[in-house]
Amino acid sequence: MNRTDFSHEDSFITANLSQHRSQLEEKVRSRQASVGVIGLGYVGLPLCVHAAESGFPVMGFDVDPRKISSLRAGRSYISDVADSRLEDLMAKGIFNPGSNPSLLDEADIIIISVPTPLTQSQTPDMSYIREATRLVRECLKPGMLVILESTTYPGCTREELLPVLEQGGLSAGSDFWLAFSPERVNPGSGYSLSRTPKLVGGVTADCTGMASLFYGQFIETIVSLSSPEAAEMAKLLENVYRSVNIALVNELAMICNAMDINVWEVVDAAATKPFGFTPFYPGPGMGGHCIPIDPFYLSYKARELGMSTEFIELAGKINTRMPHYVVERVITVLNERSQCLKGASVMLLGAAYKADVSDLRESPAIKIVELLMENGARVSYHDPHVPAFSVGEQLFRSMPLDGAALAAADCVVVLTPHSAIDWAAVGRDARLVVDTRNIVPVSGGKVYSI
Ligand SMILES: NC(=O)c1ccc[n+]([C@@H]2O[C@H](COP(=O)([O-])OP(=O)(O)OC[C@H]3O[C@@H](n4cnc5c(N)ncnc54)[C@H](O)[C@@H]3O)[C@@H](O)[C@H]2O)c1
Repeated sequence: MNRTDFSHEDSFITANLSQHRSQLEEKVRSRQASVGVIGLGYVGLPLCVHAAESGFPVMGFDVDPRKISSLRAGRSYISDVADSRLEDLMAKGIFNPGSNPSLLDEADIIIISVPTPLTQSQTPDMSYIREATRLVRECLKPGMLVILESTTYPGCTREELLPVLEQGGLSAGSDFWLAFSPERVNPGSGYSLSRTPKLVGGVTADCTGMASLFYGQFIETIVSLSSPEAAEMAKLLENVYRSVNIALVNELAMICNAMDINVWEVVDAAATKPFGFTPFYPGPGMGGHCIPIDPFYLSYKARELGMSTEFIELAGKINTRMPHYVVERVITVLNERSQCLKGASVMLLGAAYKADVSDLRESPAIKIVELLMENGARVSYHDPHVPAFSVGEQLFRSMPLDGAALAAADCVVVLTPHSAIDWAAVGRDARLVVDTRNIVPVSGGKVYSI
């Protein structure tokens, strides 16, 4: 091949790419681009709904057949997605959920939102991302945009997705576009996906541009970053920041208790400073799929470089200690009434890891139930969002919350500040309360803080 052939080849590739680009750009702007989402959980389902509501045809693929039949019946399993929105989209035929990956064959854009848990040895479990990437490789075609939304370690998009997707001979940035864009939803917060700024980092500037163009159709603010690594790290920083600050205030709560100081009064006082202080509040321990897990994705990557993440380790240690501390508080307050935990009836208010959601993942309530049972307590609970859950072999069902149930418990322990619970009635009817959330009005010396 002589020099002239090279130029010919180069200009052919350039022409091809710019043709793909203008085709996808046109399809995105006219909302004709079909969007495939892999993983329809807390992240994937709201994303499908927002994209479909803005006019994109959306195919949602999930390996869980129960989720698919629920969606097909117009029933949502995510509190931020109302059934009526689903029914509307299904009736218009603009959202098509299924459990057959061939659904993705027609997609112009594929977004991966599968779980990223930890293995038994606390290292990243990449199996879900790997399986999803393999599925994308099967249907990858020139002119496609691929985006990873699952939270992961810095370098994952380039190390895990890029080589697998390029196996068939197509190149990212030349034949298809590849980017990382973390999800930052906060379920139950009411802060919608479209109003939460979206970080986007592509493996090339062109990849960033294409992913930004897509999200810009239904998200108000797009923040472009120079690389997927910067976007991956930014997401981890957000979660490490929360974990470390929660640990700081949890430690402060234990010290305040020993000094007979109200930690909530202290935090609220500090928060009156108009700059340089963001309030975090203590609680019974960390829960959810993100904060207790994601920081360890960074620890893993740092270890590979021979570095340590001491803030993350220390925060994990303090936050993991909190359920033990809550049970110690229950033992102490019962003791003050000449009672012991063994044989006492303890009623937990809230099982979900945070207010107004049904999510039990990593919830400190599970550990607290285990510890109470180990100490011989008789445990019951009420949670308006969690009808039942199991700890080991034992199944617990949410009890109705009335004056008699509250008065019957030797100790009521407040774990989740759900807005549907009448907290004034708890303060009135319970005999003894350990309140980990500062939500029960203090009355007659029977409500104890953590
Ligand atoms: N939940 C949150 O609030 C939140 C917020 C920001 C980021 N994230 C991150 O987003 C990612 C997804 O989290 P989530 O909370 O939506 O998880 P989830 O467990 O609610 O949903 C994941 C879904 O993926 C499905 N799935 C697993 N393997 C699959 C495969 N090979 N093909 C198709 N579907 C598959 C599962 O069946 C499940 O429905 C994680 O990396 C998480 O850290 C979560």
